[in-house]
Amino acid sequence: MRNSSRSNVDPFIVMDVMDAARQAEEAGRHIIHMEVGQPSTGAPVAAREALAEALDHDSLGYTVALGLPALRKRIAQLYGEWYNVDLNPERVVITPGSSGAFLLSFTALFDSGDRVGIGAPGYPSYRQILHALGLTPVDIETSLDHRLQPVPQDLTGLDLAGLMVASPANPTGTMLDKSAMTALIDAAQGQGAAFISDEIYHGIEYEAKAVTALEVTDDCYVINSFSKYFSMTGWRVGWMVVPEDHVRVVERIAQNMFICAPHASQVAALAAMDCREELEGNLAVYARNRALMMEGLPKAGFSRIAPPDGAFYVYADVSDLTKDSRAFAKEILDEAGVAVTPGLDFDPKRGATTLRFSYARSTADIEEGLARLTTFMAARRG
Ligand SMILES: Cc1ncc(COP(=O)(O)O)c(C=O)c1O
Repeated sequence: MRNSSRSNVDPFIVMDVMDAARQAEEAGRHIIHMEVGQPSTGAPVAAREALAEALDHDSLGYTVALGLPALRKRIAQLYGEWYNVDLNPERVVITPGSSGAFLLSFTALFDSGDRVGIGAPGYPSYRQILHALGLTPVDIETSLDHRLQPVPQDLTGLDLAGLMVASPANPTGTMLDKSAMTALIDAAQGQGAAFISDEIYHGIEYEAKAVTALEVTDDCYVINSFSKYFSMTGWRVGWMVVPEDHVRVVERIAQNMFICAPHASQVAALAAMDCREELEGNLAVYARNRALMMEGLPKAGFSRIAPPDGAFYVYADVSDLTKDSRAFAKEILDEAGVAVTPGLDFDPKRGATTLRFSYARSTADIEEGLARLTTFMAARRG
């Protein structure tokens, strides 16, 4: 049967790495997972309890498309707590993960063929979803001088209908401070482009607090999720904040595309928002892991790294070690028993010489992974 040309999207290479790691485990090997971009912790205890309680009393049918009013209200309150931003709960839309929010936002904002700027390196699904919707992803090649984040001059002449940024970013963990965020928003709006801010890693930041685009302007889309800080990847629940006059537009699309985000997950998410102590405990583990990585990776021989401001990744330039990050990742998996992600997922042009290491797992795993990488690299040097 025929296929659309829109459906011809690239695979997510990290999934192939995960599959190779799984096969090695099935064959009896012990693998350290530095490829996965998700916490190893489950949803907070009180979130699970809230759901258990709801299962007994609630049929958990559809919610309204914009999501449970109590959850929208609690998210608006979070903007007060985290950023001192006064947010109208009516502007909050609950989505099936931030991935669902990408579909909604791209559909609400753009017409077929529109050009949407995304940073390279960046989260691969932006490019693939844009392509699948008949939009044109425009890679903005970022530089180390700007900590691999786009800057206003990069937008010159691009004729964009939209600009998507992430801070903290995947795979680099770098953030935009308020002046960098403001400058980008001004530049995007100056050429009539809609500004979309992926803030999924907010809450996982180490030195400075991440800035939300809502501190700068109301005229933007902000996307967030319960997947990372709230440790609820598989629950598929996230949110989006949109300008007041876009709520109805997004609501109509959401009604038709998804009906609603999973009701059970919304119940758990609401309770998760009050689990600060447990979530800050998870954060303390990431902070410890980050310190171990900053010390251990250069010692092992991965010296071209920059300290991440947030998220749980280190993006390493391995151009001194390989010209083929995919083959190198395979070698590391086969010989060291450590799964890592080749940079090609994040940067189709330059990713052949980069690797992403995730430190989202337990500290014991990170220690073991670093020890294995050190032995592997020493053997490789001969
Ligand atoms: C930058 C970024 N945005 C979005 C997502 C997707 O997350 P969700 O589980 O909310 O769909 C990820 C997942 O790793 C990510 O790294």
